[in-house]
Amino acid sequence: MKARKEGRFSLKLNAKSGTSQAEARALEQAMRQPAPETLPARLYNDAAVYETERREIFARSWQLFAHESQLPRPGDYFATDYAGFPVVAVRGDDGAVRAFHNVCRHRAGPLVEDGGGHCAGALVCRYHAWKYALDGRLASARDFGPAEDFDPRQFALFPLKTDVWRGFVFVNLDTDARPVEEAIAPLERRMQTLSPERFRNPRISSHNIHCNWKTYVENYLEGYHIPVLHPMLASTIAADYGTEIDPPAQFYRATPKNDAPIAGLWAWTWPCLGVNVYADGILMERMWPVAKDRTRLDYLFLFSEDADEAEIERQIAASLITTKEDIEICEAVQRNLDAGIYQSGRLSPKHEQGVAWFQKQVLRAIG
Ligand code: FES
Ligand SMILES: [Fe+2]
Repeated sequence: MKARKEGRFSLKLNAKSGTSQAEARALEQAMRQPAPETLPARLYNDAAVYETERREIFARSWQLFAHESQLPRPGDYFATDYAGFPVVAVRGDDGAVRAFHNVCRHRAGPLVEDGGGHCAGALVCRYHAWKYALDGRLASARDFGPAEDFDPRQFALFPLKTDVWRGFVFVNLDTDARPVEEAIAPLERRMQTLSPERFRNPRISSHNIHCNWKTYVENYLEGYHIPVLHPMLASTIAADYGTEIDPPAQFYRATPKNDAPIAGLWAWTWPCLGVNVYADGILMERMWPVAKDRTRLDYLFLFSEDADEAEIERQIAASLITTKEDIEICEAVQRNLDAGIYQSGRLSPKHEQGVAWFQKQVLRAIG
């Protein structure tokens, strides 16, 4: 009832501002859809909710962890953490990339520091130097001394499930997870003609954001704010921004103005990965929680190997203008969610169906 009243009110405003009758009818049709309630504000700053999300979302879903070109040789590794899980991926002597928890089986020491590096044939714990083969087996427990009830074969590193899709290394904490191909199928269908393998020249930039991870993801899932918040981006696309949901992914479309180089593919997939394929490169955006009120946005850019360095720098700088605008508004939204006045709002069926789909999945996951 309330939604219908709001719909009539908006229609009246549009009629006054000169909307054609056909447009007004289409609008009316759209407005007859329900306007779902948003998630309650308390889900954005509650330690127990975050713990549940870690367990039910981040310990069960596929996460883009690295690109193969970051680990070209046996012994090359990349380490970082997401949702509080420290993970290292390393290329083995057999050429396969495997991921493990970056946690030693002795007394939970770290094997390697975060970032990329090379280890010669083994991962050696930084605390007491237990040594692990690149397939995770414990190769030696340095100077452990005689012990009758200690079998090194039972102390291999904790593995993650690892799959590579089109050069992207995906990991899943759930070692019984179904293959990444299933989770990535909607992206794969649209990626086939774009030959992303052309791009193997990686650049990474990270941004620490003072907001809950959902606040940032939801901002990514709608174009409603583009004309208001991103004047530069808005000048390159027509106002026909649309969303198509193909679970667990979403795809966005907008008509470019003046041959603007907008993405050939502009997408997102559950729970927190943005995917942009351009004519001259790829940008993958990871929106990883660090804590209940902290998010790290990692940009993995891939360019072709002969790309011009100045052009790479120009493109990265341009993308950061929009990013800064998004970060500032998400941090302000989070402060308001934390302030305790706002409890919940309503989502536009015309512009925010992607947000509604995401929120439904979150609720389903955390129960
Ligand atoms: S914690 Fe790793 S060797 Fe002791
Ligand atoms: Fe934005």
